[in-house]
Amino acid sequence: MAIQANSVSDAFTQMKALLSSVVPEAELRIKAELVYEILKKKDERGAIILGHNYMEPALFHTVPDLVGDSLGLSQAAAKTDRNPIVFCGVKFMAETAKILSPEKTVLLPAKEAGCSLAAAITAQDVLDLKEMFPGAPVITYVNTYADVKAVTDICCTSSNASQVMRSIDSRQALFLPDEYLSSNVARELGKSIAIAFRGPNGSLEIEGDPAADIIGWRGRCEVHEQFTVDDIANARKQFPDVAVISHPECTPEVVAASDYAGSTTKLVEYVKKSHSKRFLILTECSMGDNIIAENPDKDILRLCSVRCPHMNQITLEDTLHALQADEQLIELPEDIRKAAYRSVERMIQIGPQKD
Ligand code: 13P
Ligand code: SF4
Repeated sequence: MAIQANSVSDAFTQMKALLSSVVPEAELRIKAELVYEILKKKDERGAIILGHNYMEPALFHTVPDLVGDSLGLSQAAAKTDRNPIVFCGVKFMAETAKILSPEKTVLLPAKEAGCSLAAAITAQDVLDLKEMFPGAPVITYVNTYADVKAVTDICCTSSNASQVMRSIDSRQALFLPDEYLSSNVARELGKSIAIAFRGPNGSLEIEGDPAADIIGWRGRCEVHEQFTVDDIANARKQFPDVAVISHPECTPEVVAASDYAGSTTKLVEYVKKSHSKRFLILTECSMGDNIIAENPDKDILRLCSVRCPHMNQITLEDTLHALQADEQLIELPEDIRKAAYRSVERMIQIGPQKD
């Protein structure tokens, strides 16, 4: 996937051919120098660069050896024997790579690249929920930190959430921490859901019937919660032929009003395969640019005020710096890593959802 360049001007020529529809030429010229330096350093060190679908176009289309969604990148991280792994994504993703490859150096090219979902729940929240719902298995979205994964039974991503839920042999399950992903799964599987949260005095409270099939958690993605059914109605009014596709971190109302919902990779594939010519893509806005660059014959409408501030922390400058100075090193206590490994590995065994 990464480009092969033997000089800065070679890198620039290739980047221009790939990206001139989405990145101004002056910016490409500056970034070509960084890209060339990163490619050289990567080869020198025998490193592998993994890039999430939300990386900005000049990074996404140039330096990663593998690009994809959370599940694809977790699997890639598990299989690679190259070292170090440079994870161009947010911290929970780099932690997943470390969970699966403890003997390797894992680098995150940003000082802070968080996630509002990962920040929404702590290991203590999960332990308190387990006490409240004894015996209910715990499924956690991979958008959580290692200590949270360590106290759960199985992880899931947006591309296998329903499949993981179906694999659970229990009347009731905890599905944490994304309120909307769990509600979308409940809707798809015809299950009832109640949402747990911390009340003002810190005690656990439940909105809905505590006997519901699924107990979710009040965590939300700060990007996807911003999309509304009005955005969809307005786009359909102006462009009646538009295909609306959304990420399952959007509200159930937005997902229900969309033509298709899926993980970031599934949205990319949908655009490639669809006969529609025009799309509204309700997800992080760099992915829209990445799709435009690969599908010049399609018209992509975007609501581009919604860049993930955490994904936005990952830059070409910091990717180069990470490779040069081994920064930021991801490290995990071994007992937490081992316990988290079990939950991630169980998910990987289940694999992606069959549509
Ligand atoms: P994917 O698993 O679909 O790549 O999503 C990750 C994410 O952070 C979405 O906001
Ligand atoms: Fe987290 Fe949302 Fe950013 Fe994805 S887009 S990393 S879920 S804040």
